[in-house]
Amino acid sequence: ADLENGESVFLGNCAACHAGGNNSVVAEKTLRKAAIEQYLTGGYNAAAIKTQVTNGKGSMPAFGDKLGPDDIDDVAAYVLDQSTKW
Ligand code: HEM
Repeated sequence: ADLENGESVFLGNCAACHAGGNNSVVAEKTLRKAAIEQYLTGGYNAAAIKTQVTNGKGSMPAFGDKLGPDDIDDVAAYVLDQSTKW
């Protein structure tokens, strides 16, 4: 996966609600490792992140019609890579 492209996809599509790995809508559901482990359906892995990005959940919109599969792969890899760095 291309982490640089993942970062640009993140900044363009996710940072509105997830700037700095935070969550401006549901505060406890951050993009940090411990929160993903606790809250993300499917657990702490790229496939689970891709599923949520593709389909959305709760107040998070679906991106399956907006982003192509490569961009979804890359943004999931970026979120996973960042999850211990935010
Ligand atoms: C949750 C990624 C865009 C709102 C999450 C989670 C991930 C994620 C991995 C799970 C975090 C956790 O459970 O601790 C992304 C990515 C995005 C994106 C990669 C861009 C492609 C957005 C946008 C919004 C948003 C634009 C607001 C309009 C939320 C909300 C949750 C969430 C409300 C909690 C969902 C729930 O469990 O009820 N996001 N997100 N996200 N995100 Fe996003």
